Amino acid sequence: MSHPLPRPLTVLPRGPLRGTIALPGDKSISHRALMFSGLAVGESRITGLLEGEDVLATAAAMCAMGADIRRGDDGVWQVAGVGVGGLLQPETALDMGNSGTSTRLLMGLIASHPITATFTGDASLSKRPMGRVIEPLGRMGADFTASPGGRLPLTMRGLCPAVPIEYTLPVASAQVKSAVLLAGLNTPGITRVIEPVPTRDHSERMLAGFGAEVSVEQTDDGRIISIRGEAELAPQEITVPGDPSSAAFWMVAASVVPGSDVTITNVGMNATRAGLVTALRMMGADIDSLDEREVGGEPVADLRVRHAPLSAIEVPPELAPSMIDEYPVLFVAASLAEGRTVARGAEELRVKESDRIAAMATALGACGVSVEEFEDGLAITGTGGDPIRGGARVASKLDHRIAMSMAVAGLASDRGVTVDDVSPVATSYPAFFDTLDAICS
Ligand code: S3P
Repeated sequence: MSHPLPRPLTVLPRGPLRGTIALPGDKSISHRALMFSGLAVGESRITGLLEGEDVLATAAAMCAMGADIRRGDDGVWQVAGVGVGGLLQPETALDMGNSGTSTRLLMGLIASHPITATFTGDASLSKRPMGRVIEPLGRMGADFTASPGGRLPLTMRGLCPAVPIEYTLPVASAQVKSAVLLAGLNTPGITRVIEPVPTRDHSERMLAGFGAEVSVEQTDDGRIISIRGEAELAPQEITVPGDPSSAAFWMVAASVVPGSDVTITNVGMNATRAGLVTALRMMGADIDSLDEREVGGEPVADLRVRHAPLSAIEVPPELAPSMIDEYPVLFVAASLAEGRTVARGAEELRVKESDRIAAMATALGACGVSVEEFEDGLAITGTGGDPIRGGARVASKLDHRIAMSMAVAGLASDRGVTVDDVSPVATSYPAFFDTLDAICS
């Protein structure tokens, strides 16, 4: 997947935001739905799949390894799986585009299959650390030849049968947890992951839904997730809830643009993902959770968000794993709050699609926001509700969430914000700017 030409876009001050917003499917859940369906024996159907570039990279890779994946005219995806242990040798390199989740989870799957695969990605993905998955998967017996620093492009050779391990996560990462559990799927015996700090639990939930023997135990050392290998997965009907990480942009935009009143429907409210709602409410945001229900084994709700004056907070570091992808847009909320917001303990932001601490410090600083950068976060002194200055051209750094966050900043600015390249938005939220036009007067 070569990167398209940069697409600059200026977002002028606009608003209020009013109306109802339908979200794209959850990205994390969409990846997992394709991978697990691709490993089941028989045909699964997936409704509400996110049709963004990252998820399509996962679909292409699963097809390259033997799964049959098609989109029906009704938008429902049908997947005929190969069975656990049945993945085939891909004939060409697997192009992961911008997607860290595709890369790390698929590395887990391949680790316990007798196949060799090469992973490539775009300039952003090629800078991201893969050592965090190479290390545990290596212990299970997979062999890796990576680019310097444990990066892409890399070639790996899986081992079958692999060796089950017990692994304590050194970083709070759902991708690392999932990579080990997925390797465990085709490994004889019990593979165990201990997470001292809870991270998103979509893998464990969905694997259990597919019939794998997964147990989760809460202990003083953290959560222990165990999976029995040589599992058989049964095909499923899956409904993917809306992505809370995509809802985040509208939650903040409606909170900071005066007169706004939006209802975001079908928002995934899994507690391991809902940290931003907690943080924004602490700041004084007016967010009502309506019609709380379950979709596809995940809690969802409709969120009504109305403009409200925001106050600065110290963002509790323990919220970090449950809002790790939402910090860029939280920094925009902080830019319009009264007082100095301090967000620390979020050093993982430095190894996302971009260095999100540096990218947001530079972009907001260029828009006239007072920002102090730390190794593990930012402190931002907000305007107290007045628009930020804006009038700058900022870099999205091949990072969809920087592009969308700075678009929200543009709405709440005096002079607008030009994002140098909004094309990365297609990785997770292809309809973002259409929705913006539809709900902004
Ligand atoms: C994801 C886990 C998180 C998150 C990413 C999606 C997942 O990454 O930032 O966008 O689907 O498992 P880490 O595991 O690196 O924290």
